[in-house]
Amino acid sequence: MPNADAPLLEVDDLRIEFRSGREIVRAVNGASFTVRRGETTAVLGESGSGKSVTAAAIMRLLASPPAHITGGRIRFNGADVLGAPMAQWRKRCGRDIGMVFQDALASLNPVFTVGWQIAEPFKAHGVLPAKAALERAVALLGRVGIPEPHARAHDYPHQFSGGMRQRVMIAMAIALDPSLLIADEPTTALDVTVQAQIMDLLLDLQRERHMAMVLITHDLGVVAEVADRVAVMYGGRVVESGLARDVLPRPAHPYTLALLESVPRSDIEQQQLNPIVGSPPNMATLPSGCAFHPRCRRATSECRAARPPTVKVAPGHHAECFYAQQVFDGR
Ligand SMILES: Nc1ncnc2c1ncn2[C@@H]1O[C@H](COP(=O)(O)OP(=O)(O)O)[C@@H](O)[C@H]1O
Ligand SMILES: [Mg+2]
Repeated sequence: MPNADAPLLEVDDLRIEFRSGREIVRAVNGASFTVRRGETTAVLGESGSGKSVTAAAIMRLLASPPAHITGGRIRFNGADVLGAPMAQWRKRCGRDIGMVFQDALASLNPVFTVGWQIAEPFKAHGVLPAKAALERAVALLGRVGIPEPHARAHDYPHQFSGGMRQRVMIAMAIALDPSLLIADEPTTALDVTVQAQIMDLLLDLQRERHMAMVLITHDLGVVAEVADRVAVMYGGRVVESGLARDVLPRPAHPYTLALLESVPRSDIEQQQLNPIVGSPPNMATLPSGCAFHPRCRRATSECRAARPPTVKVAPGHHAECFYAQQVFDGR
């Protein structure tokens, strides 16, 4: 039996490369984080920092080639994910992990009705016969807020608005009552008004079904509101992690600090917004030492020369920076 106190999901020193021709894109370079049962871990970081590739690795959706997992481990419910035979993993993962992507149109099949698609996992996993599966699909459409679900179950994805398609994808993701939901920028492609509704739906479902969630998002407001834990990614590494209530008010990595200073906040008086200078690193030619050093106000020759240690600034709060303690102490 898995230990009830053990994390539901453990990503440990994960390394993933994309190889094409002579170029090697080091998309994930030793990323570690955990997700506990029923809790939300927010994964933050600029575009290109390895968030989606990490999520795809957990689901084992990366095609190889070009992707190669060159190191690390993923454990789900105590079991090794990457080493499990694919057929066995598909069966488990399909039931126990649901995934919601940014782009519902790309992940829904255009040639099948939404009712058929939501019913599919029940049939594929041998849970229900076809008729009962369709009834469950209709009930799920209703639950995620699709009006007239009986009629709408017979419509195709293109007949729904962006927000409604996102609801359909959420219905598919939760159909088999997963214990973990991975939501990869679930609201980024939507209008601002719809974003809040979809986020609320996800949170309601999470509470109602006691799901854990990996929430990949750019929205620090949402993170502050819903995350139990945060993992901040930069250059394919988790550079800071800990409880959201510890990390957000008192970050210890200059990158996290810069991210927090770059968004408007209502909780503190802010003279001006400070966008992070420079651009994210090219993952094919990562900087030496700390990947953030070219953009970091504090960087010294040490940061250029060597990868910084993981510093424990408080219990359960870690940051990968030579100066983590100083940043944490506000010096
Ligand atoms: N199929 C692919 N082939 C080559 N490089 C890829 C592929 N998918 C992602 N990458 C690269 O991996 C890095 C991390 O990407 P990704 O995880 O999508 O970032 P994000 O944090 O924005 O989700 C990026 O440099 C991206 O260009
Ligand atoms: Mg992404």
